[in-house]
Amino acid sequence: MSLPLKIWHPFTNAVLDPSPIFVERAEGAWLYTREGREILDAVSSWWVNLHGHANPRIAAAIAEQARKMEHVILAGFTHEPAERLASGLRKWLRPELTHLFFSDDGSTAVEVALKLAVQYFSNLGRPAKKEIVALEHGYHGDTAGAMSVSDDSPFTDPFRAMRYAVYRVPTPYLYRRPEGMTEAAYIEQCVGALAELLEEKSESIACLILEPLLQAAGGMIVYPAEYLRKARELCTRHDVVLIADEVLTGFGRTGKMFACDLAGVLPDMICLSKGITGGFLPMGVTVCTDRVEAAFRSEDRMHTFYHGHSYTGNALACAAANASLQIFEDEPVFDRIAAIAKINAERLAQFKDFAVVGETRQIGTMGAIELRAEDAGYLSAMRPKLYRFFLEHGVLLRPLGNVVYVLPPYVISADELHRVYDVMEEAVQTLF
Ligand SMILES: Cc1ncc(COP(=O)(O)O)c(C=O)c1O
Repeated sequence: MSLPLKIWHPFTNAVLDPSPIFVERAEGAWLYTREGREILDAVSSWWVNLHGHANPRIAAAIAEQARKMEHVILAGFTHEPAERLASGLRKWLRPELTHLFFSDDGSTAVEVALKLAVQYFSNLGRPAKKEIVALEHGYHGDTAGAMSVSDDSPFTDPFRAMRYAVYRVPTPYLYRRPEGMTEAAYIEQCVGALAELLEEKSESIACLILEPLLQAAGGMIVYPAEYLRKARELCTRHDVVLIADEVLTGFGRTGKMFACDLAGVLPDMICLSKGITGGFLPMGVTVCTDRVEAAFRSEDRMHTFYHGHSYTGNALACAAANASLQIFEDEPVFDRIAAIAKINAERLAQFKDFAVVGETRQIGTMGAIELRAEDAGYLSAMRPKLYRFFLEHGVLLRPLGNVVYVLPPYVISADELHRVYDVMEEAVQTLF
């Protein structure tokens, strides 16, 4: 008898990391393993789950759709779940964002945005405007283009030759600002760096891509809305397309439906994924303004956006997304979000007294502590110790190196969230 294939797990070192845990079933914020363990999912399974695992409303919507039609090619065709999602999202997005392009996940939503920005200028007869600006500490995904705009990291290191060049500007990562500099001066310095670049290269720069207000995989870095607003102004002044990568921040994570709303900023394009289907099925969307789409509305076939993935606009994923949006309409989701945010604030305040805690950061449902480390960064030796400790204590938390963060499904109860923080506190007290 032949052996089964071995699953190659993502972001996992087969020698150094613990063996995968076999999950048999999941419900609410809980994962139930084959061995009978119960694990609290405090990271929403890579930030995708909003309304709880195995949410019955989303599960039923997918089942119902599967009996009717699972999938149909979206080139030349459309269908009710996709059209319904387009009108459902209409209610939440700024009216200026008018056209939606489907893709498969966060990385492809980003790829679409970048390609749209470059072709936008090409269609307008300005092909020289093709370069891209991105932020330090940014992360936008693992495909080649998304990896190019992401900052250098252990994730991208072996692929230096594959990544195209981008201009990279500093993020106002206040905790790491130069010693002796005030926060205000540092924000100004970061804005100044962007202003100078756009001023000098406005003829060649097509777009700026950023994660609004929260740089997630880069270390849960929360930066001031003022920077985002100034970046918007500068993009407008220099005719640069602003791409907001809300793959993580979308769907309530930061307290508002979208982080850009929190800052009062209108991007030219917004990338959504992760929570869009409530965490049930993969889907990406890129939504752009009428101005961007108008450059593609042409009798010249060369102005067409020749891009599309096989599962574009998948009907089951659309059904899941529609059910998730319906939950936002029918259930007190923003009350749940506010309750999480309140506990985050209360519990994070208690970490400030630990010597090993350098900074605590919060935005909405995301609460983080950055630990002081000689080897700060994703490969910090703190990470495996913390990860194991949390799992031994029945909590799934995946520190980003020396940054420990909580990003739970919105259905987590107050008791469950306190339990997560209790375990975090015990870890900080006993491990370092
Ligand atoms: C801000 C941001 N953009 C893009 C991505 C990539 O999404 P995906 O993993 O679905 O390709 C991520 C994933 O963590 C993300 O956080």
